[in-house]
Amino acid sequence: MQIVYYPHPSLRFQALEVKRIDSNLRTVVRKMFDLMYEARGIGLAATQIGLPLRLFVINLEADPAAKEDEFVFINPQINKRRGSDTDEEGCLSLPKLFADVKRPEAVVIEAFDLDGQLFEMDLEELPARVVQHELDHLDGAMFTDKVIDQHRDYVDPVLKVFEQTFRQAQASGAYPNDETLINTLREIATSGGVPDSFLTANLAPPAVEIPAGLLRPRRGRNSDG
Ligand code: CO
Repeated sequence: MQIVYYPHPSLRFQALEVKRIDSNLRTVVRKMFDLMYEARGIGLAATQIGLPLRLFVINLEADPAAKEDEFVFINPQINKRRGSDTDEEGCLSLPKLFADVKRPEAVVIEAFDLDGQLFEMDLEELPARVVQHELDHLDGAMFTDKVIDQHRDYVDPVLKVFEQTFRQAQASGAYPNDETLINTLREIATSGGVPDSFLTANLAPPAVEIPAGLLRPRRGRNSDG
């Protein structure tokens, strides 16, 4: 398993509900935390590893030792939103790109945990932002769709580099084409669970080199998800 980069079609795929919590799903969740820590993120959605199921993980401390801060959200749903707040975001599927996004400042979210228990959280500020960013991933939305107008001209050329890199890798045969990727996504999504074959798949994303002049440094704390 690997994190996929934009514009992998998984990142535009409408993920479907998890229908069974079994040992394969537990294995995937553990791997998602590991991949998230490796990439120094604080959240990771299943679609970001090419798994089109409604599930994401967070650890706001980004610390593998802080097990008490690990949360798994299965079939999540936001029930209330209030306020509005603009802050910086980053995404593990678009490394090194940071831009401001306006979102509701607080949310009430409910989801199932790995034991199949329904829980609810009342979140604001960074935690609220992270769960909204991750839930967007499950609906095929990227934070770059929602950046503030003032950051649009900065973000678009960076997206173009990611797109060119990905399409070149596909054209050279180093990466599967969209049709192949989408067929696999459809099969997994409709099954509602993690097939054995997914656990052993290990396709590295094309290495992206963004010209330094296109990038801006991060302003705030780590908020990649
Ligand atoms: Co993201």
